[in-house]
Amino acid sequence: METNRALYKDLESILITKEELQEAVRKLGERITRDYEGKNPVMICILKGASVFFCDLIREIDLPLEIDFMVVSSYGASTKTSGEVKLVKDLDRSVRGRDVIIVEDIVDSGMTLNFLKQTLLGRGAASLRICTLLDKPARRRVPLTADYFCFNIPDAFVVGYGLDYAEVYRNLPDIGVLSPRIYAEK
Ligand code: IMP
Ligand code: MG
Repeated sequence: METNRALYKDLESILITKEELQEAVRKLGERITRDYEGKNPVMICILKGASVFFCDLIREIDLPLEIDFMVVSSYGASTKTSGEVKLVKDLDRSVRGRDVIIVEDIVDSGMTLNFLKQTLLGRGAASLRICTLLDKPARRRVPLTADYFCFNIPDAFVVGYGLDYAEVYRNLPDIGVLSPRIYAEK
């Protein structure tokens, strides 16, 4: 834990350490490798939040997979969802007939993944699974279950390892709870 960094001063506590993240991602990679044996899935990274998790995860998967990226937005500079999901950048290639794995940073209200799931199934994906690093089940607004997740977390606003608040903190190696004074100031 590198608590001397300036960004750590804005955290209330560290929730998941770099070492715990590394171990969980390694195990998840092994599991996906087993589950998709003989297949070549398309793994879709939901930018920007899932980027750090995605880059670590794909390197723990021993399969001839392909990657693609999507940008969706629902939050803006707030800690609560606007409830409206907008597709900002679409995939480069078709997913028709492909085994798709959507990789997200966190499932909160479930609105983002619900939207993405409907969109990609509507385009004829052969199968679709959801893989998320974090799950915050207390805040669900639509029924949504992730097929793969690493950590269940309490109802707190967290940052680090790709997760942001107003675009900052994504480069923290650990995941921590943001001090409420940071968003109260805005
Ligand atoms: P949902 O549509 O409400 O499930 O929200 C999913 C998106 O909201 C995630 O991809 C994150 O970008 C963002 N989000 C939700 N909770 C948090 C959090 O605690 N910290 C940072 N971003 C969050
Ligand atoms: Mg975000």
